[in-house]
Amino acid sequence: MPFFIITAMYPVHRFQAIDSTNIKAKELADGGAVSGTGVIAGYQTKGRGRLGKQWHSVAGKGLFCSIIVRPDVPLEDYPKITLVAGLSVALVLDRLVTAATFLKWPNDIHIAGKKIAGILTESSPLTGNRGAGYAVIGVGINVNQDLEDFPLDLRGNVTSLFLETGRECGVDELFFDVRREILKQLQVFCADGFLPILAQWRKKDFLLGKEMECVNRQGKKIRGIAQGPDDDGQLHVLDGSGRMHEVLSGDVRLATR
Ligand code: BTN
Repeated sequence: MPFFIITAMYPVHRFQAIDSTNIKAKELADGGAVSGTGVIAGYQTKGRGRLGKQWHSVAGKGLFCSIIVRPDVPLEDYPKITLVAGLSVALVLDRLVTAATFLKWPNDIHIAGKKIAGILTESSPLTGNRGAGYAVIGVGINVNQDLEDFPLDLRGNVTSLFLETGRECGVDELFFDVRREILKQLQVFCADGFLPILAQWRKKDFLLGKEMECVNRQGKKIRGIAQGPDDDGQLHVLDGSGRMHEVLSGDVRLATR
């Protein structure tokens, strides 16, 4: 049975187990839940990642949460929310680990080349009304996992707060820190625009100057050197023939020889 509490002014819906906190958050948002409402689960049976991938959700070891936001920005600016959220999570993790955090466009947070967190932002149906919609920001952070808690095929590519610090971290406190930081950075985004966010984001750009591959939504494979996101948050990639590509979405990875 879920229980419902109001903490620091914003409601939190907690579940021991759930299919996906994003699914629940979308239901709540459709029902009128206020901006800042959080959904947190100890375990997800259908944790969703980007591009239809599964998010591995070991019971009680990770932070699995979603935050409903209703920012007063035009709907075409909604894709930028993923970058705002990624930066926010990285800033929170910076306070907990000594190693530098990096952002891999558009939604991954890395430490030393290994993924520690991911963001899946899902929006309400587009209505064209400024501020009328919502976005659900789904955040998955590897918190107290040891290496053997991850599937074998992921072990070389992932890390957790526990692996980075040698200490267990409170998942609840982490949720509140993440929510506070996301709401704070969204406030900056709404009041001052995207450029102050981007300036911080660019300092943490994991792909910048690296050779990478991307399969875009049309299924076209692009290989080239990452130039970082432009002022709209779209990744630019310069291919071997000198042609610049704009990548709006897609599976982005470092190129293999
Ligand atoms: C990614 O890196 O592909 C994004 C992963 C996002 C996972 C989180 S866990 C909480 C929330 N609920 C979901 O079903 N997914 C997000």
